[in-house]
Amino acid sequence: MRQTDQVPVKVGDVITVEIHGYATQGEGVGRYQGFTVFVPNCLDGETVLTRIELVKKNYARGELMQVLTESPHRVTPGCGLYAECGGCQLLHMDYPGQLEFKRRRVIEVMERLGGFKGITVHPVIGMPEPWKYRNKVQYPFALDDQGKVVIGCYQKGTHNVVDTRECLIQHDLNSRIMNRLRELAQGMGISVYDEKTGQGLLRYVLVKNGFESGEAMVVLVTNGSEFPEGKELASMVASDFPELKSVVQNINTSGGNVVLGARNKVLYGEEGIIDRLGDLEFKISATSFFQVNPAQTEILYQIAMDYAQLTGTERVLDAYCGVGTLTLFLARQAKEVYGIEVIPEAIEDAKENAVRNKMDNVVFAMGATEEVLPKLANIGIDFEVAVVDPPRSGCEERVLQTFVKLNVPRIVYVSCNPSTLARDLKYLVNRGYKVKEIQPVDMFPHTYHVETVVLMSKK
Ligand SMILES: C[S@@+](CC[C@H](N)C(=O)[O-])C[C@H]1O[C@@H](n2cnc3c(N)ncnc32)[C@H](O)[C@@H]1O
Repeated sequence: MRQTDQVPVKVGDVITVEIHGYATQGEGVGRYQGFTVFVPNCLDGETVLTRIELVKKNYARGELMQVLTESPHRVTPGCGLYAECGGCQLLHMDYPGQLEFKRRRVIEVMERLGGFKGITVHPVIGMPEPWKYRNKVQYPFALDDQGKVVIGCYQKGTHNVVDTRECLIQHDLNSRIMNRLRELAQGMGISVYDEKTGQGLLRYVLVKNGFESGEAMVVLVTNGSEFPEGKELASMVASDFPELKSVVQNINTSGGNVVLGARNKVLYGEEGIIDRLGDLEFKISATSFFQVNPAQTEILYQIAMDYAQLTGTERVLDAYCGVGTLTLFLARQAKEVYGIEVIPEAIEDAKENAVRNKMDNVVFAMGATEEVLPKLANIGIDFEVAVVDPPRSGCEERVLQTFVKLNVPRIVYVSCNPSTLARDLKYLVNRGYKVKEIQPVDMFPHTYHVETVVLMSKK
């Protein structure tokens, strides 16, 4: 501990720091005369020279100048955009090091925010080949200093767009389609949205790619519904890529950072694509959620299934069900599954997916889980197993309250955010549940994100 309240560093100081752990997004954490210093791009166990860039009352942040003692987990990032792009934060860490970082993070957050000590957190399940794993890319459009169209990731901590022509974690087809779209948008002189003025048409582009089906789709997000060049652009890109089965315009005239608007228009082909997970087939529309790493999704779902321990007699809840992917896997081993999802298009896809896979023991309800679930409980519907897979914000308290009220015997919680997970587990543990085990799965190699499956049961 520090002996005085005086901050021992000021902006511009160059100091030596020993790194002894990681902050949430993988930055190294060290101490200087007992004072906490964060240094990005450092690894646990390293001694580094850092220049202080920011000083606050309780911590400082420095820029890495030199690694004095190197960790055995340090590697040279194989991406030319690593220094600029905010996408892959851990490319300087070897893959075993990343998996260990993620496991430690889950344990640390569970202890600090959940108050859980000594719970079972299994080693993170990683990928044998953790590259080119993403089936979806989503980039903003912008203009560079010369007025040329750029498409790519945001520069770290800013809204400056870095022109991105290839990416180590994207499937090559996604990058090739993006590169062609950039050329076409430039050549056709289509205006590009400027977030400062709110003027210009093209805002974002998404490519979704069905790894199993080989089908791809493009979603062009526009600031307005008038898109005179839309159909021509769509058929030109489609003629270059036979995989492209759908080009959709999504209209988003809102001023903020939300990517997708509510309205879609088909510019070419179908309104969505098909992909397969295991032996089930799914339709994916422009605005529906579909897991971005299909290889790891099958592993994630298998763990959720193992934890659910279904025998064929249970009524199961699948809350936050997206297009019903996990719902249908659960339904094969349950009497009946209720899926709840807030995006209308996704629930339409989910219903179509049940028919497509000839499954009639699923019920899909459109709406927010916190609204729909209490209503189901009020009309006497209860569940032997509840599976939840909420967005980063976790479950609203009303959802957890309903589980407690219904006395659901087993809860399987799939989470992409350890902090909200720890908060929600704590709520349930304080009301009679026990955390049985935790299995992290690496859905997002080279980023700090970690996905976790938790089994909870009544004590
Ligand atoms: C992490 S995804 C999981 C989807 C699905 N379980 C899967 O594996 O593909 C979370 C889903 O929750 C939906 N969602 C977000 N907030 C919701 C809410 N309050 N109630 C129901 N669904 C919600 C999102 O649209 C998204 O489809």
